[in-house]
Amino acid sequence: MHGQTHELRQDRKVATVVTFSQCRGVPGHFHFQRWIDEGFWRLRKTNLELFKPGADLHPSALRSMPAAYQVIARKWRPQTFDDVVGQDHVVRTLRNAIARNRIAHAYLFVGPRGTGKTSTARIFAKALNCTGGPKADFDPADPACVAIAEGSHLDVIEIDGASNNGVDQVRELRETVQYAPAQGRFKVYIIDEVHMLTTAAFNALLKTLEEPPEHVKFVFATTDPQKLLPTIVSRCQRFDLKPIPPELIVQHLRKIADAEGVKVTDGALACIARMADGGMRDSQSIFDQMISFCGQEISEADVLDVYGLISEEKIAALASAVARGDNAAIVQIVDECDTAGRDLTRLLLDLENTVRTALLQSIAEGGKTTALGQVSLTTEQLTRLLDALREGESKVKLGLSEKINLEVTLLKAVESSRARAIDSLIKELTALADELPDEAAETEGSKKKP
Ligand SMILES: Nc1ncnc2c1ncn2[C@@H]1O[C@H](COP(=O)(O)OP(=O)(O)O)[C@@H](O)[C@H]1O
Ligand SMILES: [Mg+2]
Repeated sequence: MHGQTHELRQDRKVATVVTFSQCRGVPGHFHFQRWIDEGFWRLRKTNLELFKPGADLHPSALRSMPAAYQVIARKWRPQTFDDVVGQDHVVRTLRNAIARNRIAHAYLFVGPRGTGKTSTARIFAKALNCTGGPKADFDPADPACVAIAEGSHLDVIEIDGASNNGVDQVRELRETVQYAPAQGRFKVYIIDEVHMLTTAAFNALLKTLEEPPEHVKFVFATTDPQKLLPTIVSRCQRFDLKPIPPELIVQHLRKIADAEGVKVTDGALACIARMADGGMRDSQSIFDQMISFCGQEISEADVLDVYGLISEEKIAALASAVARGDNAAIVQIVDECDTAGRDLTRLLLDLENTVRTALLQSIAEGGKTTALGQVSLTTEQLTRLLDALREGESKVKLGLSEKINLEVTLLKAVESSRARAIDSLIKELTALADELPDEAAETEGSKKKP
């Protein structure tokens, strides 16, 4: 296995190929299973055949592999502030701080994975330490910036909070903080996944963080700000990086595809963006994976097949069936998707998204909408529907059959959206009854008299 892995590494799809070949041995297979469990690679059941221990690599995965391949996510790491997609609020504030020379001593970047935290931290370090800086519009080809991008700059120290989480590491950091920068103007400490530091380590860090030497800047990044001590957060300027909107992901992937000479349809890119859930890195990894499977031409059907996704049309059809309460159609669509080996959990999430969009539309349209099909649903009904679908989320994976669980969830959702309809009906009837000059109204009236 080792020899083979080594040879394959020389080839093009380093990331893909190593993962494929790991699947030959049982331990590797375990890792791959974890990848799947973590939802990184949702593959059609038939494709899983490729990854069985001892299975041979699919020839299409090895197609045309020139040397020295770098995965897209690394090759396309933003190098300047202008390269960062979808985080304008962060970029603008950092640029202003640099231009006005109001640079804080500690920053905290918070956001979901793959949205640009580490990249922005490095860009910020470049702006601080570039030749003639600090300046926001530095030249990325400047030797100092190149060194920072490559991770070889002596004064930009990246620490992975996940693996260096002990108090000893922080003590060491406290000592080195005292020394003047060797190469640049500032010593910049970038601590990634800072929430992984132990409480003792945090406490050791506090003092330094309060009054660091003039030449020291801290940039912390985390996906999980709740786990940080409030005393740390209050000493930092906090920036929240947002999930990147699908349109921007599509636009960026289009640019990458053009530059890489990959032909890919708009539908395929939209699908990839849908799966990435706002994470640019995830979208790029999926795109990379698709290139390994399909070569230089990628269609929407390819993406749907490989990842077991369901087409927008089918999701719309299912949403419409749920809206009409057409149980037979619901069962049939679920059955079709299951037979085609589609990912049913993903189907539920996509359906939720559709209902959520309709819900927003109903609010915009003044209380009801026909966005889900011919029938008109009220905001209340849609809210109930969405609630019921979300409740089903955790249950779909439980038990014996994902398919049955999904069916039950959908049928229940239909019921609960209807239950509300009866509710509102009673309300309407009561309102009507109130308007009638009946006995009840009279007794009401007589009661009010003193
Ligand atoms: N806002 C963004 N604009 C452009 N590319 C991005 C953005 N966010 C992430 N990426 C891509 O994802 C990769 C990883 O980004 P990174 O900054 O390390 O994410 P994080 O630290 O938030 O997990 C980058 O190399 C880049 O290719
Ligand atoms: Mg990161």
